[in-house]
Amino acid sequence: MKPSVLQYLKLFLLFAFGGVIIAHVPDQDVLESLRKLPLDGHFSFRDMSTAARDFGNLSSFMPAAVLHPGSVDDIAITVRHVFLKGEHSMLTVAARGHGHSLRGQCQAAGGIVIKMESLPTARMQVHSGASPYVDASGGELWINVLHETFKYGLAPKSWTDYLHLTIGGTLSNAGVSGQTFRHGPQISNVIELEIVTGRGDIITCSPDQNSDLFHAALGGLGQFGIITRARIALERAPKMVRWIRVLYSDFISFTEDQEMLISAERTFDYIEGFVTINRTGILNNWRSSFNPQDPVWASQFESDGRVLFCLEMTKNYNPEEVDNMEQEVNNLLYQLRYIPQSLFHTDVTYIEFLDRVHSSEVKLRAKGMWEVPHPWLNLMIPKSSIHTFAREVFGKILKDSNNGPILLYPVNKFRWDNRTSVVIPDEEVFYLVGFLSSAPSSSGPHSIEHTLNLNNQIIEFSDKAGIGVKQYLPNYNTEQEWKAHFEARWETFLRRKNAYDPLAILAPGQGIFQKASLPLPS
Ligand SMILES: Cc1cc2nc3c(=O)[nH]c(=O)nc-3n(C[C@H](O)[C@H](O)[C@H](O)COP(=O)(O)OP(=O)(O)OC[C@H]3O[C@@H](n4cnc5c(N)ncnc54)[C@H](O)[C@@H]3O)c2cc1C
Ligand SMILES: *[C@@H]1O[C@H](CO)[C@@H](O)[C@H](O)[C@H]1NC(C)=O
Ligand SMILES: *[C@@H]1O[C@H](CO)[C@@H](O)[C@H](O)[C@H]1NC(C)=O
Ligand SMILES: *[C@@H]1O[C@H](CO)[C@@H](O)[C@H](O)[C@H]1NC(C)=O
Repeated sequence: MKPSVLQYLKLFLLFAFGGVIIAHVPDQDVLESLRKLPLDGHFSFRDMSTAARDFGNLSSFMPAAVLHPGSVDDIAITVRHVFLKGEHSMLTVAARGHGHSLRGQCQAAGGIVIKMESLPTARMQVHSGASPYVDASGGELWINVLHETFKYGLAPKSWTDYLHLTIGGTLSNAGVSGQTFRHGPQISNVIELEIVTGRGDIITCSPDQNSDLFHAALGGLGQFGIITRARIALERAPKMVRWIRVLYSDFISFTEDQEMLISAERTFDYIEGFVTINRTGILNNWRSSFNPQDPVWASQFESDGRVLFCLEMTKNYNPEEVDNMEQEVNNLLYQLRYIPQSLFHTDVTYIEFLDRVHSSEVKLRAKGMWEVPHPWLNLMIPKSSIHTFAREVFGKILKDSNNGPILLYPVNKFRWDNRTSVVIPDEEVFYLVGFLSSAPSSSGPHSIEHTLNLNNQIIEFSDKAGIGVKQYLPNYNTEQEWKAHFEARWETFLRRKNAYDPLAILAPGQGIFQKASLPLPS
């Protein structure tokens, strides 16, 4: 048999473009064979533009097919089919959660995108009892998990700031928010997973059963398998939260207070913080659902020409316990050194609080400001270098924070399980720092170019000053950079890749591994 024109073309492209472009050439034979697979759901080979997009709006790769799975078996059959074609097929497979990746991580150039949200949701099951949990599909949105578990007076313990994200998507990263300091990230609150590996095997795993795969998949950037079901630990859900914000002008007291609060035995239930730099309209901020009616308080938030630090916390309570809650809150606030007049609080339901970012989404969508480029930068910074970092970045590299919120809050390392794949700084307390920029304009201070330039300055400074930064939602282009990211954990990551996805079929958009691609023998 002679190699086809297509294979020559692939080879040519391989040599001409160093193996990056080749994935765009669809594998016609393999694609044809997909149509014959016995599935509960179906493939679509048209209207694939959604699968070529993500929230970042900076990367777009057209897949060759989209799988709308009707069952977990559909996912296993598809991956196994691609696996058995071996190195003769270039096809890759990307699970797509809600497509909230920033740099094409949920895309598959010329490959198969699996629309995880199509997995039937009838499987969500809440188990109450002494150690309650919920079993949910990997494609389920966290907001749906909240609504379902809340019917039983229960809720997951650890969250992200925004709930229109999928279980499989956040567990492949970590899932962090203001509860992380006390419960660990979402990946510290998983009891069991069902995973389709890169060989197409369906495997149930937990800390006791197939534990290596279990830990590999948590924070594993989708490299070891597709999470089709997760068992998530629950707790009793409070009805209400008191939601408090206070301001600091001094970074040292701000961080010392945050650090005191995350280490205290009796403390708040949620602790975050953010930075505003010469911001004249902070109330236009996309997280503005916390909207003070009081104009005196509101004016405090205009950081005209200044850098201000806002500490944000909540205390959970049920209506009958309001007096107790207030006493505890006052005891805690009494120990803090914020600007006295800046205290503001509001009482909202637990669901309103957890879903707070969604109301901003609705407003931004209405203004056409949601589907714009998002050159976000998320960093993890050791406590020992956060002041050096802050001195250079807030006010010097960044002269204002008008492109989007800057989050900054500490977490405790001992709440993170070092057997998982996630990479964190090697220090007992480290900070999560998120530069959540939007870049709606084609030029000027709100452009992609300007924002990426600022991001680069932050990264370059951090490298030069030896800050010890690790990226969250990491994005690198070379193996060297990935190795530097993983450091000592690279060997384990590689071993696990060889064990669970030896042909590098899964989550190609992370850009860590290239699918082995050999031409057919002639
Ligand atoms: C507005 C907004 C707010 C955010 N807030 C937070 C926050 O507070 N804390 C936080 O930690 N993160 C936050 N994120 C980031 C979020 O965790 C990531 O976007 C993540 O990618 C989840 O999004 P997703 O479910 O849409 O997954 P996708 O973007 O679709 O997928 C992410 C990666 O996981 C893989 N993947 C998807 N599903 C599965 C699966 N079932 N099994 C295996 N791999 C899978 C994909 O192939 C891809 O590589 C936020 C994102 C946005 C847009
Ligand atoms: C960004 O979003 C716009 C509007 O939805 C879309 O037309 C464009 O193709 C997107 N660009 C990328 C790179 O995804
Ligand atoms: C703050 O912003 C205003 C208006 O955007 C600008 O005129 C002023 O120079 C800025 N101040 C500092 C200290 O950067
Ligand atoms: C994880 O932490 C434990 C306890 O601190 C330690 O004994 C172990 O060596 C660590 N493992 C890895 C892989 O770092």
